[in-house]
Parts: sequence; C-alpha cells; structure tokens
Amino acid sequence: MLTQEENALLTQVGPGTPMGELFRRYWMPAMLSEEIPGADSTPARVRILGEDLVAFRDSDGKPGIIDAYCPHRGAPLFFGRNEECGLRCVYHGWKFDVTGKCVDLPNSPEGETYKDKVSITAYPAIDKGGVIWVYMGPKEHKPPFHHFQWLDLPLDHIFMQKTTLNCNYFQSMEGDLDASHAYFLHRTLDDQSANISARIRDDAATYFDPNPHYTLADTDYGLLMGASRKLADGNQFISVAHWMLPSYTTPGASPKVQQMNIRVPIDDENCYQYRLRYDLDQPLSAQELNEDKYGGFLFPELIPGTYLTVANKGNDYLVDRVAQKNYSYTGIKAFQIQDLALIEDQWGPISPRTEEHLVSADSAVIRVRQIIMKAARDLMEGTEPASANNPDAYRVLPTRMTLPGDADVEEALKPYSIPQA
Ligand code: FES
Ligand SMILES: [Fe+2]
Repeated sequence: MLTQEENALLTQVGPGTPMGELFRRYWMPAMLSEEIPGADSTPARVRILGEDLVAFRDSDGKPGIIDAYCPHRGAPLFFGRNEECGLRCVYHGWKFDVTGKCVDLPNSPEGETYKDKVSITAYPAIDKGGVIWVYMGPKEHKPPFHHFQWLDLPLDHIFMQKTTLNCNYFQSMEGDLDASHAYFLHRTLDDQSANISARIRDDAATYFDPNPHYTLADTDYGLLMGASRKLADGNQFISVAHWMLPSYTTPGASPKVQQMNIRVPIDDENCYQYRLRYDLDQPLSAQELNEDKYGGFLFPELIPGTYLTVANKGNDYLVDRVAQKNYSYTGIKAFQIQDLALIEDQWGPISPRTEEHLVSADSAVIRVRQIIMKAARDLMEGTEPASANNPDAYRVLPTRMTLPGDADVEEALKPYSIPQA
C-alpha cells in the first residue's frame, strides 16, 4: 500500500515530474521500425511520456523524432511533406531536419536569416533490433545505448508485438513481478492445471503450486527475482526473472525462446507494451512465427491498422462464461488478454494503491516500487541513475532450474544477476 503522494510519484510521467525525468534518462522504444519503413517515409504520430511527437525518416533513411507541432503557429506536422532531408509543414512551408534545425523558411522575406534562429524540439533516435529508440532527456546526460543480448541478433531471430494498453505503465508491469497470478489467471480446468500456452512453452510446473516463494536480490540493473514452486516429487522449480530500470522485464524463461516485455508510458493513463521473444541460436521457425502473428495464445489479435487488441475493455475482452465454467479459469482466450482484462482496471486506469492489502506473494512488486521511487527521488536531488550508464549490466537472461526442496536458492541465484557474455 502506498500513500497518495507515493502513488503520484510512481505513476506520473509528464515533463518535470520525478518519474518522468527518470524515464528521460534512458533510451526507450518509440515505435516499431516498420512504422516508418524507409527513406522519406510517411510521418507517424507518437506520444510518449505525455509529449506529442512526430517520427519520420529522412532521405538518407535516418530516423527523426520531433515535436508534433510546428514552431511557426503550431500546426500539426503529421500532415507534413517529407522531402529532401526534412519534414515540411504544409501550412506555410517551414521545413525541419531530423536534428530539429529549420532548414527552410520560405513564406517571408526575412526567412533566409530568421530560419537560423528557429528550431523544433528533436530527440536523438536510433534504429536497432526492429525498434526506433528515442532519448528524451537532457543532452549532457545522454547515456550509452543498451546492450540487450537480443539487439545483437539478426531480425529473423526476433518476434515483437506492440500493443496499446489503456492503463498506467506501472500496473501493467506489476503483472510481471507477480508470479502467483499465473496459477489462477492463466490456467485451464483440466487435470494438468496448465493451459495451452504453458504447454507450448513447456513450463507446466508454473501451474503446480499456487503459492510461489520469491527470493529477491537488488542488482546493478534493478532486481533479480527467483520464484520457487514446490513440485510433487519434493524438488522445487525456480523461474529466474529480471526487472531492469526503468520498465524492462524478462518473464519466466522457456527452454525454447527468451522473452522480454517493455512498457513505455504514453501518458499517465496509457502505455505501449512491446512484447518480444527471441531465439539466441537460430531463426524463429515459420510455425512459431505463424503462431505469434496470426492469433496464437501468446500474442493477441490486433485491430488492423492499430495496436489495440480485438478483445478489449469495450467488449469485456470477449469473455466467454460457458468456457469459464467448463474450460478455463477466466473464459478469456489469449494469454495476454487474460492479463489485460485484470490490469486495465485496477480501481481504474491509475490504481490508487492506497487501499491495497499486500501479502508476501507481492514482495517483488513491493521491492520494485521502492527501487524505482528511490531512483526518481535521488534524481530530483541530483544523483543520476547509475544503471542508465551501465549498459552491460542489461545483458542478463532469464532462466529456470530444478533444485532439491531444501536447496539454498539465494546461493543458486547468484550467477544469474551477472551479465552473460
Ligand atoms: S504553422 Fe507551420 S509553417 Fe506555419
Ligand atoms: Fe500474466
């Protein structure tokens, strides 16, 4: 449970807010690379941390992310003409390059000289791993780029889905810090107590124990979480996952592919979720890709032309009450939609967190709140977040292990908080 002030600190991300400034110390996904597919691409709208922006690629293919509004009289640059290394406002023809410089001001005789005094907010952008990344913080604090392992892979090793969620980024992320929900929310009612996605991922052990025990360790990147579940044979199954500042999680590892979830706040009441899986050793198979792209259990179907899910709050996530009686715990189909139904409305899109009743199963949620709020407060007092400048720390991978029931889990977890080469 948090105070109202603490919850505001945790959830408010606009310019000048402590958490908004903390996010602005890290590179973040702005959009998928395919949204601005080639040189002189069509401009695309993007809203991040409460700021309306426009993204485009110039004639050299370089991505640019600039203010959504023209500095002349505020017209929307989304309708701009993207031509010869710059985006031109179609109201009076002012043109800006990817660095924000005004390169043409044609509607006035003083334009030739006045253009040197005009610029538009532009944020550095990098195209890597199928994602356009943006840095929205002060120039003097621009950190080195991340070293996630998957960023080194060819694109055919990676599948990524972007979805728009109508809730605060933090309550979406809390689901990944909460191992106990899987047994309930994601299970089917068959003898195995395991749903189809669990069988695909071969992690049915997740569903054998409703009461996982967390072993936690603070790390350079954030938090290492080992969720232990008792197995019928007396051993314990441990899912080893990571939370990385400010909003990266590696949900439970599967033996076949690795996973990462990334939340990017759109504003206080909405966020993007980038959900990716990747194979370190080989390209994803056609079967795996088809399963992911065309309405499998792990990735939900999207409304064409949007990043909104077909099953959504407006249609009660297509809950099927007959299926709930006879087949699955929720009666809701895709894995992620099951999460969405419970996440998007936790006393509303911004959970107030003042009336919660937390238990030991919520220990990782509690710890992550503490760490991120401390980082935001420290930054307000002038201490920069060390993790932003330690990209190698982010080369950690989730894993899983089976140990004897009385094994020392803390000791067993130690190697997994260290970056893997
Ligand atoms: S408002 Fe954009 S050029 Fe005038
Ligand atoms: Fe979940």
